[in-house]
Amino acid sequence: MEWVYIEDLSAHIGKDVEIRGWVWRRRSSGKIAFLNVRDGTGFVQCVLEEKDDPDLFQRVSKLDIETSIIVRGRVVSDPRSPGGFEIRLNGVEVIHEPIDLFPIRKKDHGVDFLMNHRHLWIRSKRQFHILRIRHRIIRAIRNFYDERGFVLVDTPIFTGAIGESAGNTFELDYFDYGKVYLAQTGQLYLEAACMALGRVYNFGPTFRAEKSKTRRHLIEFWMNEAEMAYYEHEDNMRLQEELVAYVVRDVLENALEHLEAIGRDVRKLEKVTTPFPRITYDDAIKLLKKKGFNVEWGDDIGGDEETAISEEFDKPVIVEKYPRKIKAFYMQPDPQRPEVVLCDDMLAPEGYGEIIGASQRIHDYDLLKERIEEFGLPLEAYDWYLDLRKYGSVPHSGFGLGLERTVAWICGLEHVREAIPFARTLYRVYP
Ligand code: 4AD
Ligand code: MG
Repeated sequence: MEWVYIEDLSAHIGKDVEIRGWVWRRRSSGKIAFLNVRDGTGFVQCVLEEKDDPDLFQRVSKLDIETSIIVRGRVVSDPRSPGGFEIRLNGVEVIHEPIDLFPIRKKDHGVDFLMNHRHLWIRSKRQFHILRIRHRIIRAIRNFYDERGFVLVDTPIFTGAIGESAGNTFELDYFDYGKVYLAQTGQLYLEAACMALGRVYNFGPTFRAEKSKTRRHLIEFWMNEAEMAYYEHEDNMRLQEELVAYVVRDVLENALEHLEAIGRDVRKLEKVTTPFPRITYDDAIKLLKKKGFNVEWGDDIGGDEETAISEEFDKPVIVEKYPRKIKAFYMQPDPQRPEVVLCDDMLAPEGYGEIIGASQRIHDYDLLKERIEEFGLPLEAYDWYLDLRKYGSVPHSGFGLGLERTVAWICGLEHVREAIPFARTLYRVYP
């Protein structure tokens, strides 16, 4: 008998197949047993009438959830069953019986309990769909760049230089070298790489020792960054819009069943087409004041403020040209107004906050050196970075997209902890 995956059942209607998986749910209704099986690709209902095989019926009626089993039976199409197919059971082989009761059995477990059992929680339906969507988002991001001729460049995790800001680095000892940091960003390395390869991207874990426990913050999160030689601020923003619209469309086309299974209102996602609205930081401050926030020009825009801004739009909104004082050292000043920089943040709709941080980079040697000193960063560590402005320096731009915030938004999740397989937050490194 052929071993098939549940997601491929439609190609096997009328045939006898074998499914290797786990008991998801079991119930019986009089003389009919319903065994819901999952195999990592989906869930399917297997049905057996007692009269057809009383002995098998008895054995099936004893199976507890999360028993590992191989089931055999005929695939029939049944519009009433979820997924449209059903298996008429004619054999069950138990591979492993749980040693204890599976801990996740109720609908109303608290989040802490579920996070403590994350290694088991990911077997549940909603988490299955979310992780599948995450996978599709990652694939769409890669496809976007690959279709456009970008080159993937993996940037290091141990770094000698601080990438974003000195306040939230993880430091560790690196043999005789002394202190190094876990990467907050791969940007500086992508800047080097784009001068060699033109347009480049990375995709990897980043680390921020931030004492924030908001629904948008992780200590370890995945970031996709892109860096393009000869791109200026405007080109940069256009690429970001195209990326985000592409990813949303791809997920709608290829993971719609998963979005629907978790109850996402996909009509909101269908609106995410280019161009996206753009406002300046100046206008954002005016808007916030009008909405009753106590903010002044020069203040950073925090989570609540981001939510308030994004409420005004039904697409992601780009906020550009922030004061240079509240942004990273490497950002190119606006030639018309040197007190602001050629940067932008993209805020997701529905209160999901900043999903992209971006800017044109300083390409002038003297100015960059001055900024490194002004920010109190150690010049030695930036020797190689300054070299990029000594040899063949050109205007260039790039951005970083936070994966988990993007997943949380596209899935409509309450918190980023469900957007990553094993979250690292302020109070959690287990499991
Ligand atoms: O805005 P950030 O800090 O930008 C950079 O790191 C740039 N060097 C990127 C670049 O230009 N190459 O971070 C980029 C994105 C944010 O917009 C946010 O989506 C996400 O990374 N992010 C976080 N996601 C989850 N938890 C955190 N603690 C995050 N910090 C940033
Ligand atoms: Mg940012």
